[in-house]
Amino acid sequence: MIKAIIYQSKTGHTKEYAEGLSKELKIPSYSVSEALEKVKKQEEVIYLSWVRATSLVGYKKMNRKYQIRCVGAVGAYPKSTEYIEQLKEYNHIGQELFYLRGGINYEKLNKFYQKLLKIVGRAIAMENPRDKAMIQLFMVGGNFVNKKQLKPMIEYVLESENSNE
Ligand SMILES: Cc1cc2nc3c(=O)[nH]c(=O)nc-3n(C[C@H](O)[C@H](O)[C@H](O)COP(=O)(O)O)c2cc1C
Repeated sequence: MIKAIIYQSKTGHTKEYAEGLSKELKIPSYSVSEALEKVKKQEEVIYLSWVRATSLVGYKKMNRKYQIRCVGAVGAYPKSTEYIEQLKEYNHIGQELFYLRGGINYEKLNKFYQKLLKIVGRAIAMENPRDKAMIQLFMVGGNFVNKKQLKPMIEYVLESENSNE
């Protein structure tokens, strides 16, 4: 039985998804630091985190500590089967992975990350000059959080909980 939803969030998008999931599934959600105090080692959990340069932040460590039923990856890129496969491969994710589109909030990022994202934005503009939406997103920010994106994840968890009974 899943005991907790554990999330890692830098600017709040992942936290919003974790809280939405918590409400729908009636499973408590904890940030990683809270979880380390409240959720026992090897408990079954759902892990949600944000994508930073293709890496799912904290996944490796959490996967050693807990039994992760499924994973949510929150990134700024649009959802695609190719990108989900890339994230699974790059991060060695064995569980079912659900991609949730977050956003970019410059106000909540420190100077270092702000600069880094501007560089990424410029690189995107050089490589794909016609992709105006992505250039705009990485240069000025944007928010794509929509709780409807949680639907496949909710369905998967409910089905897997029922088949475990
Ligand atoms: C330094 C940095 C690198 C990022 N790299 C990626 C990336 O490789 N792929 C992606 O989809 N989003 C990337 N993003 C966007 C974040 O994943 C996105 O802002 C996410 O919504 C952050 O979640 P949070 O608000 O919970 O921290 C990056 C953001 C930062 C700050």
